[in-house]
Amino acid sequence: MSEHRPQAAAPDRIRTDVAHNARVWNYWLGGKDNYPVDRAVGDQVTGMYPSIGEVARADRAFLGRAVRHLAGDVGIDQFLDIGTGLPTADNTHETAQHTAPHARVVYVDNDPVVLAHARALLSSSLEGATEYIDADAHHPERILAAAEPTLDLGRPVAVMMLGILNFVLDTDEARSIVRTLMAAVPSGSHLVLTHPTLELGGEGNEAAMRFWNENATPPITARSREEFASFLDGLALLEPGIVSCSRWRTNPREREVAQFGAVGRKP
Ligand SMILES: C[S@@+](CC[C@H](N)C(=O)[O-])C[C@H]1O[C@@H](n2cnc3c(N)ncnc32)[C@H](O)[C@@H]1O
Repeated sequence: MSEHRPQAAAPDRIRTDVAHNARVWNYWLGGKDNYPVDRAVGDQVTGMYPSIGEVARADRAFLGRAVRHLAGDVGIDQFLDIGTGLPTADNTHETAQHTAPHARVVYVDNDPVVLAHARALLSSSLEGATEYIDADAHHPERILAAAEPTLDLGRPVAVMMLGILNFVLDTDEARSIVRTLMAAVPSGSHLVLTHPTLELGGEGNEAAMRFWNENATPPITARSREEFASFLDGLALLEPGIVSCSRWRTNPREREVAQFGAVGRKP
């Protein structure tokens, strides 16, 4: 797997003239791993869709609650985190290993800047393991093959796809990616999802996504509750089901954000 290991990202893969999602997301989360073009596009989107920063923070908080629940209450100790994003506070392995020090985590992203910063994701506990795979979510078989040396796919895995299926524009293809991943893991595995929508308010979200698609990369799409639910077909939804990610297993009166969140268990 050495070809996947984060040494330095090939400089010719890093574009500083076009805003990239991982870097703009980092900007909205208050991070510093972004370029002027990312901040300019990030500010423009915020101007059209003022709650985007709240969405990003709610998504990360959901990630923390989901991983703590799975590692702590359910006993999951293997995580495949696809569309990782730039390292931030409380990355998946830190949260999981806080509860289960032996947890094993494989991160996957295709952004060269995430690859360049991935060393911060490899600070595993001694008892556990972390790995980073530079790969595209459109190729789930490759991801599974590259994850196998680190994860035992014969034991339950939490497949995490937070804010990533929205970059697979074709809904049938997105469903097929999820199906391939979930078919490769056994009963007791979980799927952790967040996805932007136009259904939970989010004033300005539609115009902001249009602007994004004209000015940044990769292109994004929102999905309906029905489409989001179809990604979880065949899985048993954990309480409270499909909700604004800001309301999942926390105060149900928390302000909604235009981002669905849900966790499903493979029966
Ligand atoms: C909105 S961020 C979400 C980051 C993190 N999952 C979170 O919830 O905070 C989406 C991430 O998906 C990555 N991404 C987008 N398209 C991808 C693809 N086709 N394959 C792999 N990663 C992708 C981006 O580089 C970015 O880091």
